[in-house]
Amino acid sequence: MANFQDTELKNIIDLRNIKQSYDGGETWILENLEFLIEDKPAQGQFAVILGPSGCGKSTVLRYIAGLQKPTGGTVKIHEKEVGKDNRVSMVFQQYSSLPWMTVLDNVSLALRYKGMLKAERDEKAMEMIELVGLAGHEQKYAQYPTLSGGQLQRVAIARSLLANPEILVMDEPFGALDIGTRIQMQDLLLKLWHQFHPTIIFVTHDISEAVYLADDIYIMKKAPSRFVEKIHVDLPFNRTRETKREARFEELVHQVEDKMVEVATAK
Ligand SMILES: Nc1ncnc2c1ncn2[C@@H]1O[C@H](COP(=O)(O)OP(=O)(O)O)[C@@H](O)[C@H]1O
Ligand SMILES: [Mg+2]
Repeated sequence: MANFQDTELKNIIDLRNIKQSYDGGETWILENLEFLIEDKPAQGQFAVILGPSGCGKSTVLRYIAGLQKPTGGTVKIHEKEVGKDNRVSMVFQQYSSLPWMTVLDNVSLALRYKGMLKAERDEKAMEMIELVGLAGHEQKYAQYPTLSGGQLQRVAIARSLLANPEILVMDEPFGALDIGTRIQMQDLLLKLWHQFHPTIIFVTHDISEAVYLADDIYIMKKAPSRFVEKIHVDLPFNRTRETKREARFEELVHQVEDKMVEVATAK
């Protein structure tokens, strides 16, 4: 088993000996899966997961979000088994927000559960709404087409960051957006990452998006799946669209692409 850990830092996310079957053990979706992400306070890190459709990426994210337990193995966040008090909220491709509530109420929802008074949670939520570029939309309902797809993803990111600023779990969050919006959202996410230093676990099918955003790219194979490769993205910390034109960017895209072809055809 590959151990991707290379220092003595504590793990913020720690999945070991994971196995998953959805049919009582007849077939295995995940086997011997290990996923260890170090806690780098005041820095965070951006981990991007790539893998063939159906290999179990969303399943892995649901473990981290505490929405599901594996058939076997341990899932720890901050060295504690995932439970009610250390759940992480998740940003999905669509439908992450509550459409019958306003943007402001969606973003401040987690603070309500934490028992914060309305004036204070509204103030904190408004700060976050401004940061994600939604000022002026806070009283609108968080639903399509009142808000665009990109705006709804901004709501989801604001809500999630306010609920749990340390870990952001995102399942193909920009997959349904048009390309221009998608590029804007990538840059927004980098900005927020540099500002708040969360650990981000991000699933995508887009190799260029993966290379642009990631510190490290983790590649899963076909089922029975596990992580088979970690590719470090040695691009500058501050990335702009110019970065995508650099030779090293192209090289990394090709390296990841070759690996994806390999895992798609390997047994
Ligand atoms: N709740 C479930 N019940 C039965 N099968 C499931 C369930 N969730 C996922 N699966 C199956 O497990 C496999 C992995 O699913 P998923 O984690 O969604 O993969 P990915 O996100 O990589 O496409 C797929 O074959 C899927 O059909
Ligand atoms: Mg999925």
